[in-house]
Amino acid sequence: PLKLGIMASGNGSNFEAVAEAIASGELNAKTQVLIYNNPDAKVVARAERWGVPSLLLNHRDYQKREDLDAKIVETFQQFGVEWVIMAGWMRIVTPVLIDAFPNRLINIHPSLLPSFRGVRAIEQALATGVKITGCTVHLVVPEVDSGPILMQAAVPILPNDTSETLHARIQVQEHRILPRAIALAAKIYK
Ligand code: GAR
Repeated sequence: PLKLGIMASGNGSNFEAVAEAIASGELNAKTQVLIYNNPDAKVVARAERWGVPSLLLNHRDYQKREDLDAKIVETFQQFGVEWVIMAGWMRIVTPVLIDAFPNRLINIHPSLLPSFRGVRAIEQALATGVKITGCTVHLVVPEVDSGPILMQAAVPILPNDTSETLHARIQVQEHRILPRAIALAAKIYK
């Protein structure tokens, strides 16, 4: 089984999708540990329910991004993590983390990259007036939201969409492709 470390900042529905894919046998993996950075992230309760150990590493306690990333690497090494999944991690990561997991650091982003990089990707898509957006699972490189793409799914934008209704439609696809993209990465980059 792939030894996963998951990083999440908020709700954790993608954490849950990975846990479900593991439980159903779709993904041959085990989540060794969850790292979260916001004390009230809902993902913590999900990890508890799935029996996954979790650790708060609050970015406010670190002076530099590199300091937080070094602590993340140390934690993942302690837990024997081999593949790292950024499942709604809302911080920029540095080469300290990226270089510790070459070709084994995976991110999910709520747009069809290379369109709408960075924060508020869903709002960017709505503001631009495109009729199709979606989600992307990709390997992480130092330039934000720019690494090799593993998998994408397209989602229509409907006339009365708000960022909430559109995000919900995108998340259905995220939950479908994230576990598959992890399995694909493990096949390609083993
Ligand atoms: C997901 O939609 C993910 O694509 C996005 O955050 C959401 C987390 O949802 N990630 C980013 O915007 C990364 N910059 P979740 O907490 O329910 O998994």
